[in-house]
Amino acid sequence: MIDLHTHILPNVDDGSSSLEESLALLRMLASQGVNLTAATPHFYATSDTPEQFFRRREAAWQQLSGAMESGMPCVLLGAEVAFYRNISQMQQLERFCIGSSRLLLIEMPFEPWSERVLAETLEISERGIQVMLAHVERYFRFQRADVWQRLSDRGVCMQTNANALLRMASAGKTLRMLRRGMIQFLASDCHNLKTRPPRMQEAARKLSKRFGDDFTADFFRREEQLLREGCAWYA
Ligand SMILES: [Fe+2]
Repeated sequence: MIDLHTHILPNVDDGSSSLEESLALLRMLASQGVNLTAATPHFYATSDTPEQFFRRREAAWQQLSGAMESGMPCVLLGAEVAFYRNISQMQQLERFCIGSSRLLLIEMPFEPWSERVLAETLEISERGIQVMLAHVERYFRFQRADVWQRLSDRGVCMQTNANALLRMASAGKTLRMLRRGMIQFLASDCHNLKTRPPRMQEAARKLSKRFGDDFTADFFRREEQLLREGCAWYA
């Protein structure tokens, strides 16, 4: 299983607060069947520069990679980039993609998305970047129902958090979108051991229970295929 949205790097954002916690999160992911993950620290262009971000991420990665144990998932470096006006014009946007893929995880505004926001999201795709919207379930209450189909029709990928399948409030709509193929990625978005640990195995079981083992296996295969497309190292 792959998990492309995590905050497992130590001391770079509101995720893991120590090397020990990062290692424990990786052990937990491995025990849940995750063999490939992406570290996606938050990037806010309003308070950070790409240079500062990449320097901080690299330092944390050096610390973590030096302490990793055998059996832990492979880790790709990425980012969770907060949407901002003119993001589609950012020169270094490709550098924020996951590993060497063209997949870019974007955290959208927590408010109704204007036509301008939707158009700008599509402009990122037009640069040849595969947009993946982080934790779609968190935007449901702000958006009109037709937004999801419109974005999906234009090739925007959607990611849901494992927790969304395990919570009554969000499970219904999330499962409906999964069944319709409008959500392509399931991820833990794990931040820490106590309040936001990874729950990938539970979510995968829920998916199997609801739609069957074949659907679930196909879903995870498709996820890997989407990552592999345009991702040279993974081939
Ligand atoms: Fe996140």
